[in-house]
Amino acid sequence: MIEDLQRLENNALAELQEASNQEQILLIRTKYLGRKGLLTGQLRNIAQVPEEQRALFGKRCNEIKIFLTSRIEEELNKQSQNEKENKLLKEKIDVTLPGRAIKYGRIHPITQISNEICSIFSSFGFSIVEGPEIELDYYNFEALNIPKDHPARDMQDTFYIEENIVLRTHTSPVQVRVMEKVKPPVRILSPGKVYRRDSDVSHTPMFHQIEGLLVDEGITFGDLKGILTVFLKKIFGQETKIRFRPSFFPFTEPSAEVDICCVMCRGKGCRVCGQSGWLEILGSGMVDPAVFKYVNYNSEKYTGFAFGLGVERMAMLKYGISDIRLFYENDFRFLRQF
Ligand code: PHE
Repeated sequence: MIEDLQRLENNALAELQEASNQEQILLIRTKYLGRKGLLTGQLRNIAQVPEEQRALFGKRCNEIKIFLTSRIEEELNKQSQNEKENKLLKEKIDVTLPGRAIKYGRIHPITQISNEICSIFSSFGFSIVEGPEIELDYYNFEALNIPKDHPARDMQDTFYIEENIVLRTHTSPVQVRVMEKVKPPVRILSPGKVYRRDSDVSHTPMFHQIEGLLVDEGITFGDLKGILTVFLKKIFGQETKIRFRPSFFPFTEPSAEVDICCVMCRGKGCRVCGQSGWLEILGSGMVDPAVFKYVNYNSEKYTGFAFGLGVERMAMLKYGISDIRLFYENDFRFLRQF
């Protein structure tokens, strides 16, 4: 009987010796020490052991149990240590490899310059309003004193949705919408998308404009010149030369286009300014009394000025960009520069 125990212990130790991973060791533990294990079986049979050997048998069983338990524990630790070391050897980290840069988004240059312009005019006391991009012929043309046969209505330029509904070709309809709702004084700025059937290096079918309108008692062309001059110098730099050139818009009288001294050649004449030394930057003028009539403003009492500028054009001149389409290709290499 006692010899059986000895053999059992030897077998267990021999098997442990052979085991090469944790799983095998755990199987050995179950085989000998588990609830239905060999050593447990011996203990359960203690009643069949002759009485005079029983005490010794029990004692040996316990000794073997304690010994095997601690040997198995030892082997398990050894194995898990081995496995960790192997893993560390295999998984080398090359700390000299360059890291991966995280790409993060930025505000689109058109939105940036739009925000900048809005905040300059906010500081002058203008409030920001928006109008619809799908617009009635009435607001886009009629109430801006652009009669039915005016060339600006030509199918060549305007996207028509229905006979009387267009994609707005400028932000000027917002002037009319605002004046219909509020009495003077009015001081608003309106940024947004506009649409024209046009496409080349300096035109896209959709682009952005910002409209300005100021109406009050006693507003003069001097106010228009003053505000636009201060504004343009803030955007392009204090030293920028500015000129007001007579022009025509159906909804302003008198009208002026505003030029800045060419940002590329500083006025000497180059390809960008067509050798003139000047760049056209916005359209403006005193609100035509005909427009006031549409919104029931008393043009004897009130005068005002309006202006409209192209945001893409501003951004192109400010940053020296030669192709407008770059704004809409979403090339990260272009956009990340702003
Ligand atoms: N709406 C005109 C354009 O798109 C610009 C403009 C606005 C001119 C307001 C005068 C006054 O060209």
